[in-house]
Order: sequence, then structure tokens, then C-alpha cells
Amino acid sequence: MSYTVSQLLNQDISLQPIEIKGWVRTFRANRFIALNDGSTLNNIQCVVDFENTDETILKRITAGAAVHIQGELIESQGKGQRVEIKVSTIKILGDSDPETYPIQPKKHTFEFLRKNAHLRTRTNTFSAVMRLRSSLSFAVHKYFNDNGFNHVHTPIITGSDAEGAGEMFRVSALDPKNLPLDDHGNINYKDDFFGKETNLTVSGQLEAETFAMSLGKVYTFGPTFRAENSNTSRHLAEFWMIEPEVAFMDLAGNMDLAEDFMKSVLSYVLEHNREDLEFLEQRLLDEEKTKPQAERSDMSLIEKIKFVVDNNFKRVSYTEAIEILKNSKPNKKKKFNYIIEEWGADLQSEHERFLVEKHFKCPVILFDYPATIKAFYMRLNEDGKTVRAMDILFPGIGEMVGGSQREERLDVLKEKMKALDISEEELWWYLDLRKFGTAVHSGFGLGFERLVMFATGMGNIRDVIPYPRTPQNAEF
Ligand code: 4AD
Ligand code: MG
Repeated sequence: MSYTVSQLLNQDISLQPIEIKGWVRTFRANRFIALNDGSTLNNIQCVVDFENTDETILKRITAGAAVHIQGELIESQGKGQRVEIKVSTIKILGDSDPETYPIQPKKHTFEFLRKNAHLRTRTNTFSAVMRLRSSLSFAVHKYFNDNGFNHVHTPIITGSDAEGAGEMFRVSALDPKNLPLDDHGNINYKDDFFGKETNLTVSGQLEAETFAMSLGKVYTFGPTFRAENSNTSRHLAEFWMIEPEVAFMDLAGNMDLAEDFMKSVLSYVLEHNREDLEFLEQRLLDEEKTKPQAERSDMSLIEKIKFVVDNNFKRVSYTEAIEILKNSKPNKKKKFNYIIEEWGADLQSEHERFLVEKHFKCPVILFDYPATIKAFYMRLNEDGKTVRAMDILFPGIGEMVGGSQREERLDVLKEKMKALDISEEELWWYLDLRKFGTAVHSGFGLGFERLVMFATGMGNIRDVIPYPRTPQNAEF
């Protein structure tokens, strides 16, 4: 019978002999193979009878080699593991030259592993992160499915800029050496593949809204693209966004949904990914030991996740937050790069982090932002200057979620679009929703990689996505 390492280590296997395939992590004393197949963080020890094994085979058992082992699962003779495999035959499926194999059994920097991202999931840290990512993704679909949401696949190629920030990657089939120009010297997109200007989506929200206004409760979970030139540890040019959208739900309902959703998916991994979480917790502890005391966290990774699951998110209006920031020490002592002087200021990540990490010390939902710093589609409040927006800020991460109640009044929306020079012709279908059976509705977007960062304790967003796309980097 053929098994995975996880099955052999965690289940009662009675059928013998057994077979297994995997990659050699280490080979010690010409005798002990630590074998890993990705099914679990742990390796299984395979004991080779070196006296009766061909010397040429023994030489080929090197870190990274793929092997096929047959043998008996026995109670371990040594310490450190419950069971081990007594190898009867070993076949080398794929050699791995020990001189050139990049993933040596030693500590590598994340920088080095990013350059070898095609092999980095052969390390404990990255295999744990990617199993957790997969599990979280499953938990996302499970949550929405359990709660009556329909999954919508919104288009990846679109003509609209949902966020109005202009940070889009153009999609074109035109020959860059021979662009069709109109009389004014502008590119004539009528001659392009779609007959109009198109780009990769920055958000599935606008299309998701159309589905919410028919199917009621929907969500998208797909790739999202932003050409913002932010070379930070929290930005990717290609990331995955989860966007629920719900008809007849207001901003308070939106906050409840976001909070319940995040608690649910984090509880899921606490329950199902214990082994990987414990490993990542230890990794984080080791990393923090190299930092000055003041920068170390007073909670371990699992404690942090539990804290989020067990405590209410603090709900604070933008106006209250500005007061807190204005009166804060770093503002008064001019420690912030951007000093908060008056109401209306956009919050920078330094301010967000102050609020969650220093002031409230828990996840915070900020709401009712000034209309001027938020997207066109957010519902204007009665005060005429704030909109029903919410951002959820997390310790160590900053902004995790951005959402809002949507402007459902046709006249108000049209006016807003006019003021921002957003074409009604382009968004005719979006306006139609406000003409035919309009209703209160809300939704939010959660950056999946930021959630994975929080759940794994990884400090750089490039290390929680298989192949990060960032400025000047699209390798693999
Ligand atoms: O706040 P954002 O821009 O909101 C929207 O796109 C709305 N249309 C969502 C909605 O209401 N349906 O983005 C939502 C989230 C952010 O809070 C952040 O977590 C993540 O997406 N995000 C990024 N993650 C990684 N790299 C980037 N460049 C990101 N930009 C946004
Ligand atoms: Mg945002």
C-alpha cells in the first residue's frame, strides 16, 4: 500500500509492507533519511540497511532527491519519533546534485528563498505557510457557502476603474511599435481587441453589486491587479481579494459580517492547522529574539489569533480617530512622518498602526470617513461630508479590509460621478442598478495575502503568495 507521510505518522497503519514517495530532506550517518512529501510539516525517518544497499545508490541519497521507498512501518528504535520505516528497497526517482541544490539543510534568508521561490516550498517555513494559505482559502469558501452566499466569478479584464485611483495595468493587443492614432495623436482604442480601453481589474466590486441586486448574497474571490508603485512589505501588484456584497444590508451589518467572517476563518485554521501554526509560532519567536525588546510582541502567534477570535473589534468613527491621533504623543512630538493637523486628513499606515498597536491594542473598525478621501460609490451620510465607509485595521498589518455601504440613490450617485469626472456612459449598467429596484446594499474587500500574513506571522507579503509580482519583479 502506498501512503503519505501524514498518514504514516498520524494514522494506525496495519497493512504491511508499505510504500512511500517523497523528497530527501537530510541523509545522516549513511543510514537515516528524513523524508518529506509535503503532506505534513514533519518528516518520516527511513532507516536504510546500508550494509546491504548498493554503494552507488547510497551516494545518490542526497538532499532534494526524489525517492521511492518500500519497507515496514515499525515502532521507532530511536528517540524523537514514534514510528519509522525500515527500508527494504529504495529507488532513486530523481537525483539532486548536492553541489548545486540551492535548498541545503541549513537556515536560508527569506531574500535568498525569494530568488529560489520555485524550490522554497521544500522548506518547513514555506510549506507551512502554503498549507495554511490553502486551508484559509478553503475556510473562506466554506464560510460563505455555509451562510447562503453565491460565489461569483467577476471578470478579470474590464473597462472600469472601480477604485478611481488610476492604478491599472492596461490590456491591449495593439502593436506597441505601430499604434493607431486619432487626429489628436491619442491612441485609438477602437482599433484594439475590445474596441475600447481595457485593463486588469482592481476590484470585482462593481460587477459583484449587480449580482447582489439579483442573487442577494454573493462574494468574489479572485486575482486583483494594482499598478501602484509601492515597494512595501504589504503591497503586491497581483493579489487575491475576497469581496462579499449583500443586498438590503447597511454599514452596521457589513461590520458584523466582516468581523464574523474573519473570526470564523481564523478559528478554522486554529482547529485544522495546529502543527503548522505551532511551527510558525516558534519561527516567529526565534525571529523576534533578534529584535530589540521594545519591538517584540507580547503575544505569541497563536495567542494573537485567539485574541482576534475571542474579542470584539473596536468600532471607532474617523472623527474620533482624528481626535485621538491629534492628541497622541507621536503627533505632538512630531514623530509621525505626516502630522495630523485637521479633520479631513487621509490616514497613513503609521497612523493606522498607532491606533491598533499602541492605542486600542486590538482590531479596529474605522467608519464614516470624509467623502473626499474615499471612492465614488460610497453612500453619502446626512452630514453631507462623510461617507458610510469602513476600514478594518489589524495589529502588525494595518489595513486588512476596506468596505462600505454603497450609494443607492441615483441622483446622488450621478452628482458624485460628475464631480469626479467619471463617465456615466462607461458605467451605464452600474447606474441602471439605481434605476431598477435600487436598495440599500453593502460589501467589503479583504486582501487575502494580508490575512495570510496575520495567520502565519510572516512579515513580508512576498512570502505568503507563491510567486509575488512587485515592481521590477515578475520572475517564475
Ligand atoms: O481598500 P480597497 O482598495 O477596497 C476595494 O477595492 C473595494 N472595492 C472593496 C469592496 O468594497 N468590495 O482594497 C481592499 C483590500 C485592502 O483593505 C487590502 O487588504 C487589500 O485589498 N489590498 C491589497 N493587498 C495587497 N496588495 C495591494 N496592493 C493591495 N491593495 C489593496
Ligand atoms: Mg482601502
